[in-house]
Amino acid sequence: MAVYLVTGAAGFIGSSITHALVERGEQVRALDNFSTGLRSNLADVMDAIDFREVDLRDTHELQLACEGVDCIFHQAALPSVPRSVKDPRSSHEANINGTFNLLEAARAAGVRRVLYAASSSAYGNQPGLPRVETMTPAPIAPYPVQKLAGELYMQSYWRVYGMETVCLRYFNIFGPRQRPDSPYSGVMAKFCLQMLRGERPTIFGDGEQGRDFTYIENAVQANLLAAAAPAEKVAGRVFNVACGERHTIRETFEVIAGLTDYAGTPEFVPDRLGDVRDSLADISAAREAFGYAPLVGFEVGLQRTVDWYRSEMAREERELDLIAEEWSKGKCRGCN
Ligand code: UD1
Repeated sequence: MAVYLVTGAAGFIGSSITHALVERGEQVRALDNFSTGLRSNLADVMDAIDFREVDLRDTHELQLACEGVDCIFHQAALPSVPRSVKDPRSSHEANINGTFNLLEAARAAGVRRVLYAASSSAYGNQPGLPRVETMTPAPIAPYPVQKLAGELYMQSYWRVYGMETVCLRYFNIFGPRQRPDSPYSGVMAKFCLQMLRGERPTIFGDGEQGRDFTYIENAVQANLLAAAAPAEKVAGRVFNVACGERHTIRETFEVIAGLTDYAGTPEFVPDRLGDVRDSLADISAAREAFGYAPLVGFEVGLQRTVDWYRSEMAREERELDLIAEEWSKGKCRGCN
């Protein structure tokens, strides 16, 4: 039975792929260093997987982790465009050096295929929408440069060593388990949490910038299809993974405000340094190569996402209530 390795398995996309593989009864090894991932993202499946706390800088542990593996879903990264603008070195080390270390470990272990989490931010601000994979990349911030370097490494390992590498350029993936609580969190996750809490969201710029927001289930499906596709269709290639629709940040604000009953207005602040203005994908290459088609659209995806954050917040409140109750009981017992 094939062994799958997921890197960044405690992160948003990695944990979603891990859950999907476990649901299909696959044998899964999973790595994370918890730099941004959460143990709670894997709590439901921890007993069903071979989880190892490994950092991509640890070449020895990476080597051990790749042994006997047939296919890798390489999702580990230090994400976020603004984080890379503020601190390019740490994201460079995780995203470029980490990817290189993984490829070297995979090569030594004879891994057949690597699916790589590439980024649509590689297209930059060049004219021409929708983005097609044949366009010349024009990355702006360090993060897209790093993600693009990873793509080039992937393609090199196919051309030189025959490793079946496949780059999936994600377009703003959102959905359950995406971290909402960091300044570097994705806009959907931030807006959901802020509006559910009644806090005022911030819009960078005029809010007319657009994104091809893609619900997580679509990204998971793209990974599973690309993993199963014949090598002649996918190896050494780059594919957009998106919905093929553009929605502005203002529009996103309005939809989430409706779903969360938020009555306030956003605060407009200046543009974020290094941001891409617009993003919209042509998804025909992925459809032709491995039958990808988005399963869940923008509105349904957002409804599910808001429902998930709402239920997580209710669960956390219940847990806090239980702790408070236990604490007050214990205190009373102590008093008697
Ligand atoms: C996102 C991903 C990145 C991925 C890229 C391409 C995250 C954190 N980043 O980058 O990993 O490579 O898509 O798919 O998921 N915005 C606001 N207010 C906020 C936060 C953001 O107005 O509070 C705006 C930003 O200025 C930007 C847009 O929303 O114009 C999207 O920002 P963000 O969610 O951070 O994603 P990207 O930078 O597009």
